Amino acid sequence: MADELGCWNIADLRAKARRRLPRGVWEYLERGVEDETGMARNRAALDALAFIPRVARNVENIDTRHDILGASSSAPFAIAPTGAAGLIWHRGDVHLARAAAKAGIPFTISSASTMDVEEIAKAGGTLWFQLYMWEDKPLSYTVLERARAVGCETLFVTLDLPVMPNREYLFRNGYGMPFALNKNNMLDVMMHPRWLLGVMGRYALGGAMPGQGNLPPYLKSSIMKGSKPGTLFKQSDLDWEAIKLLRAKWPGRLVLKGMLHPDDAEMALNIGADGVLVSNHGARSLDHSIAAIDALPAIVDRVGGRMSVLFDSGVRRGSDVVKALALGADGVMLGRATLYGLGVAGERGVARALDMLQDETRRTMGMLGLTSTGEIGPQVLAPRAS
Ligand code: GLV
Repeated sequence: MADELGCWNIADLRAKARRRLPRGVWEYLERGVEDETGMARNRAALDALAFIPRVARNVENIDTRHDILGASSSAPFAIAPTGAAGLIWHRGDVHLARAAAKAGIPFTISSASTMDVEEIAKAGGTLWFQLYMWEDKPLSYTVLERARAVGCETLFVTLDLPVMPNREYLFRNGYGMPFALNKNNMLDVMMHPRWLLGVMGRYALGGAMPGQGNLPPYLKSSIMKGSKPGTLFKQSDLDWEAIKLLRAKWPGRLVLKGMLHPDDAEMALNIGADGVLVSNHGARSLDHSIAAIDALPAIVDRVGGRMSVLFDSGVRRGSDVVKALALGADGVMLGRATLYGLGVAGERGVARALDMLQDETRRTMGMLGLTSTGEIGPQVLAPRAS
């Protein structure tokens, strides 16, 4: 059902968010890397999966509730960590977190967020935390303690950005760091007065431009000023030894994010991780990566049942959620889909996106003759020609 936002699906939210955001912010949210073959590949692989519906089953009561990483969720998905929410909407992270809490969906706080974990955690609900390592390693460990102290139960460590991804458009659009108005972005920003006033204007009124929210006060600087020494993310030395150290430091559940190879998933299991997130970072890390959904079955085959296997990259419909579960995923994460909602109407738009996806998941289950998520399995998919 559409509501006062006039949006019927995630594609509608996407189109509306695109109109509202300056091109530079939009492209940061939307685009991939280099020639962007990965995004089309993610979608093509999801679209290539076909259902075989079953009929004449009683589907009067369909329950989309699902446990993910020990947390009970009202649907088989959670919101993934995304760093730029604060540029899409004023204090965007807390809007995402509040909508998730109200919908009964877990929310993952990004270490790269523009608000700090303590502020975001006030939203309540099930909270998880994602880590990128800072150059200054003790700083990263301190942030982990802060995340734990505010109730984050699970830590996601992102592994698929060992080096900086090649996002040429950011520089072409004049959106480098530190951010400054320049000849490439000036017109773009000025032509989006709603965003300029509603996002940047409100930060200016509050006296502080967004920056890396999770840094301690003495290291904070706004996106206009660039980073202080030690506060850039550095992942190139994040190897299995470093991950074992994180395992020892983090008492809660540990999920390794950005897995595409079953040997890596097995290694994650061996070092005591509780889960892996099969993902190609929404095709934002390495162009020409295997579609995440194509990598899922082999990883499920190798470690499924012994640790949680989650999935993201390309999910835009409830049917995508059901497909991932049918291939053995224990849950699905949403990145761009909920950010589109955020870009349209803040918390209300995110709530709308979650509602659409839950509704579509329910309908898909009904069409397949299923009433609980536990019944979703490979039997709902047509065999794939190999
Ligand atoms: C960061 O994780 C990004 O994809 O921009």
